[in-house]
Amino acid sequence: MKEKVVIVTGGSSGMGKAMAMKFAKEGAFVVITGRNLERLEEAKKEMEQFDGQILCYQMDVRDPDKVQSMVHTTKDTFGKIDFLVNNAAGNFLCPAEELSFNGWNAVVNIVLNGTWYCSQTVGKEWITNNQKGSILNIVATYAWTSGAGVIHSACAKAGVLAMTRTLAVEWGSKYGIRANAIAPGPIANTGGVDRLIPTEEAHQQKINSIPAKRLGQPEEVANLAYFLLSPQSDYINGECITIDGGQWLNRK
Ligand code: HXC
Repeated sequence: MKEKVVIVTGGSSGMGKAMAMKFAKEGAFVVITGRNLERLEEAKKEMEQFDGQILCYQMDVRDPDKVQSMVHTTKDTFGKIDFLVNNAAGNFLCPAEELSFNGWNAVVNIVLNGTWYCSQTVGKEWITNNQKGSILNIVATYAWTSGAGVIHSACAKAGVLAMTRTLAVEWGSKYGIRANAIAPGPIANTGGVDRLIPTEEAHQQKINSIPAKRLGQPEEVANLAYFLLSPQSDYINGECITIDGGQWLNRK
């Protein structure tokens, strides 16, 4: 990872921040994006304890012009891009019959369209420059198990999984670009857990359903992300690795 350039969308908090921290610790130059500049600057300060350079870029992944500017700024600053981690997400619990069209669009635009804008823009950079890069997408197990109250996110994440596999085949064959995904279960100190497991009772039920009997830690996801971007996983392409303490297999 030393002097590799990695973009992490939604990199100022939760899993995104943990992944960015891990990459910075391993010597990468890291670009973190997010909507809140103050939060980005705070995360950057923490990452500056390591040797690598950190660039904050304030943007919403729903804005394709901003995504393109971010990618060009990254290229201008560091001269190249090695890895893209599509981590930015939006979610809230809402019964399917009550979800407004705008609520659906907000989540699908962040998760599915945002991932696509970033992936295509970075991918075109790699293809134009004859460079082999790697994309890592963050999905969720309910993309294939289903889950009550998350129809917008489940459909968007299922789309991201299809995108991962399609790019792995299409860009893998033509350009040697890899695309993989991680499907985390409930991870402590993340927006996902705050939103999807809002009460102490729901929290206890969740813990009981996880064979590991605990939530995951953001650092555990970061270690897996590091492996999936490293040359050690060079033969893994189009794969989705679940990290959930065995939870989805235990659904009753
Ligand atoms: C019903 C809701 C709602 C809620 C928002 N909406 N929250 N509807 N219940 N709790 C509706 C609004 O009423 C509005 O529709 C539409 O959604 C857009 O809302 P805005 O607040 O205007 O949108 P915006 O400011 O763009 O915010 C986007 C967001 C928000 C997705 C709604 O929650 C957000 O910014 N989230 C980012 C952080 C996040 O969600 N992190 C968790 C990701 S975890 P109307 O019709 O009223 O105009 C994850 C996977 C977890 O994805 C997996 C764990 C196992």
